[in-house]
Amino acid sequence: MHGLRREYTGAAIDENRLDADPVKQFNAWFEDAAELPEPNAMTLATVDAGGQPDARTLLLKSCDARGFTFFTNYRSAKAGQLADAPRAAMLFFWGPLHRQVRIRGRVERTTRAESEEYFATRPRESQLGAWASPQSEEIASRDILEQRLAQAEARFAGRPVDCPDHWGGYRLVPESIEFWQGRPARLHDRIEYRRGEDGHWARRRLAP
Ligand SMILES: Cc1cc2nc3c(=O)[nH]c(=O)nc-3n(C[C@H](O)[C@H](O)[C@H](O)COP(=O)(O)O)c2cc1C
Repeated sequence: MHGLRREYTGAAIDENRLDADPVKQFNAWFEDAAELPEPNAMTLATVDAGGQPDARTLLLKSCDARGFTFFTNYRSAKAGQLADAPRAAMLFFWGPLHRQVRIRGRVERTTRAESEEYFATRPRESQLGAWASPQSEEIASRDILEQRLAQAEARFAGRPVDCPDHWGGYRLVPESIEFWQGRPARLHDRIEYRRGEDGHWARRRLAP
């Protein structure tokens, strides 16, 4: 690993062309990343009641002026952490573009209607999986999962799969969003947006 070193040659962030709204700027960068494998995969960092950080990969499912939304199991480890400490950080790394985006803020649940609406668009096997998997709990064997999947298939045979009560979305409401562009000689560009009390976004450049 010592010898692994890469020169970042990405184009500069042109501050004059940055959108005043960081969510719109995120969408512009997301479009640039569209051809990458799983561009919506991100790391979600949370903290538990004892202050111990945790992180895992999740898929971003939408973003708009209200925030950045993902879906999961409301009985999972992350859900417990978010109940105790409803704040999180989201990290996108788009390696081939030499870009990183960091988003921090508070987290709230999506409405039940939003969760059901998204659940209905998922492939049936993913819907059944949401019933089969007691996410983050210990299970004695893989067989148990297969049995639980068979039970879910039998329960919903011939009809649409309901959205489980314990499954749904969270929305990270951003308070800061930082755009990082790798540049030569490690003199990278970092532009951070912060939301003020009045809801307006202020922008500043950070040292790399
Ligand atoms: C590429 C990728 C995408 C994932 N997307 C999701 C997701 O959207 N929702 C989810 O609950 N878990 C997703 N997972 C699994 C999580 O990383 C994690 O294992 C799971 O949510 C349990 O996390 P927890 O025990 O911290 O609650 C994904 C994993 C990978 C590698």
